[in-house]
Amino acid sequence: MAFTVAIDGPAAAGKGTISRAVAEHFGFAHLDTGLLYRAVGQRTLAGEDATEAARALRPDDLEHPDLRTAEAAQAASRVAAIPEVRAALLDFQRAFARRMGGAVLDGRDIGTVICPDAEIKIYVTADDQTRAGRRHKELIERGRDITLAQVLTDLRDRDARDSARAAAPLKPAEDALLLDTSEMTVDQAVARAIALIEARQ
Ligand code: C5P
Repeated sequence: MAFTVAIDGPAAAGKGTISRAVAEHFGFAHLDTGLLYRAVGQRTLAGEDATEAARALRPDDLEHPDLRTAEAAQAASRVAAIPEVRAALLDFQRAFARRMGGAVLDGRDIGTVICPDAEIKIYVTADDQTRAGRRHKELIERGRDITLAQVLTDLRDRDARDSARAAAPLKPAEDALLLDTSEMTVDQAVARAIALIEARQ
């Protein structure tokens, strides 16, 4: 049976961690859709046209070692504003969402555009200082040399661009359940998401 969990929200709100944990708990497949845009962005940093890169995206592109850098994130957010890029990635995401056995997709437009009929939509947020602190810690642990102030600026830039764009802007679907993780531990946020999904099954 297909069962789609759509998880959206701004950068570093905890979507990825929650999505992975939820997928593992229910035995669902997980797709981090941000990686698709990061992979396209990465190819544009190497000089390619964004739309052509999106149309030619291959599974290996998702394995590129630099996809988690701040540069790849900014490049992702720029290519993500191009409607042709989004259109090129649509069918793959929709097919993934409806695979048998259940799927969790996390991104910015899963509940609004990719899966408007998802069985459950969760919009994960946290205040920007909290999000910047978490992302900074993650980047430092991966050996990146970046200040907290730079991370905060990067998040605010991306959120502003992602929210203001005409094509599939970042916003909660009308029927999304809000999950603010600012004051929650990872375990609490995951437990809450699991409880919300269980209530829909
Ligand atoms: O989630 P992540 O931070 O990896 O996403 C990188 C960028 O990709 C976002 O800032 C956003 O511009 C874009 N994105 C998007 N739609 C999605 C997922 C990511 O526009 N579904």
